[in-house]
Amino acid sequence: MHHFKYVEGELCCEEVKLSELAAELGTPLYCYSHATLTRHLDAFTGAFATVDNLVCYSVKVNSNIAVLNTLFKNGAGADIVSGGELFRALKAGADPKKIVFSGVGKREDEIKYALETGILMFNVESPLELLTIDRVAAQLGVRAPVSIRVNPDVDPRTHAYISTGLKKNKFGIGIERARLEYRAAAKLANVDVVGIDCHIGSQITEIEPFIDAVKRLKKLVLDLREEGIGIKYFDVGGGLGIPYEEVDTPPHPTEYGKALIDELQDLGCTLVMEPGRAIAGNAGVLVGRVVYTKEGEDKRFIIGDAAMNDLIRPSLYSAYHGVLAVKKTDETQFADLVGPICESGDFMAKDRELPRLEAGEFFAVMSAGGYGFTMSSNYNSRPRPAEVMVKGDKYKVIRERESYEDLIKGETIIEEW
Ligand code: LLP
Repeated sequence: MHHFKYVEGELCCEEVKLSELAAELGTPLYCYSHATLTRHLDAFTGAFATVDNLVCYSVKVNSNIAVLNTLFKNGAGADIVSGGELFRALKAGADPKKIVFSGVGKREDEIKYALETGILMFNVESPLELLTIDRVAAQLGVRAPVSIRVNPDVDPRTHAYISTGLKKNKFGIGIERARLEYRAAAKLANVDVVGIDCHIGSQITEIEPFIDAVKRLKKLVLDLREEGIGIKYFDVGGGLGIPYEEVDTPPHPTEYGKALIDELQDLGCTLVMEPGRAIAGNAGVLVGRVVYTKEGEDKRFIIGDAAMNDLIRPSLYSAYHGVLAVKKTDETQFADLVGPICESGDFMAKDRELPRLEAGEFFAVMSAGGYGFTMSSNYNSRPRPAEVMVKGDKYKVIRERESYEDLIKGETIIEEW
């Protein structure tokens, strides 16, 4: 459920017309709905209300500090994967005790920053990382709370680039090795074992892979308890998919929550989850304007001003994003919606029946609130789009459009060697 719909033929975000935002703020433009963000967060907290739970929103998905602040004010914690994400989370008002730190390559400076911040736990992804955390904690004279990210070797049946819980993936530690690492961690002088974690992939549209994964981890938790190693937090990761197109029917958070609770509640752990896309994905759109149309040999090209540098998902994962005309039309056309970048892979939609669009008209690329702006770049020296948040009939710019000067920030010409 999201808050982008036609009202009297005009596509609106909540009560604001996208055509007005586009005319006022220019295109390409990322537009986010406040009500959709909070509604999705509430769906997760509601789904887990019968057990101790902590929703750690995955910052990588949409890390604008206004988006983060909206979610933190409504009770969310944060799942971070870098020092930069920790910085953003803190700027946006995150409670350090609700931050979990995942990622296979945490550097010493990042570990130090997180220890000084006093985060909830590190999701440790390798034996060497565990030793590094212990050493940095010793240097600082603190104890480091850790959980081990277990790679359960479960197929999430999603795009290969976003599968993370298979043996062949770089993430986490296999179950048997994890058992040894828990024993090692329990003996380290500066580490407290507090949790267990997994994250098997993203855009998962079935319940079974999640349940298969947590079943495997549950067995390990019970074994570890017998050895006197207690686990307080059970982090199930993120990964719940969203309906990018009508054929996608991912489970609702309530169904997902119920299945996980049924499986895990007898452990008495606090359930931690790291949803990202399911919160922010459908809470945003990318608005563009048609620059030209041109008739190709066998199809029409709609050339817009939104490109793969703004939203890379169609190019990188062949991802489907809905395309709507901002002024409703019932006419359609078989076309590619492309951007101006010098790559054939630069498209928002390919070989699709699209709304008929003419030069000067605005369109919205749907479900672009997650992994949209955060994966954007300046390729072809294109300034990044502005971002705007809508709440009811009000809107606020939450990131200014980049300027040409921004493009060369920090660069220098060498006058003399
Ligand atoms: N936790 C960890 C440790 C993660 O690595 C991720 C996503 C999440 C949580 C959040 O997953 P979500 O709930 O959003 O599925 N760029 C790709 C997706 C990459 C996912 C990376 N990890 C895309 O645009 O589809």
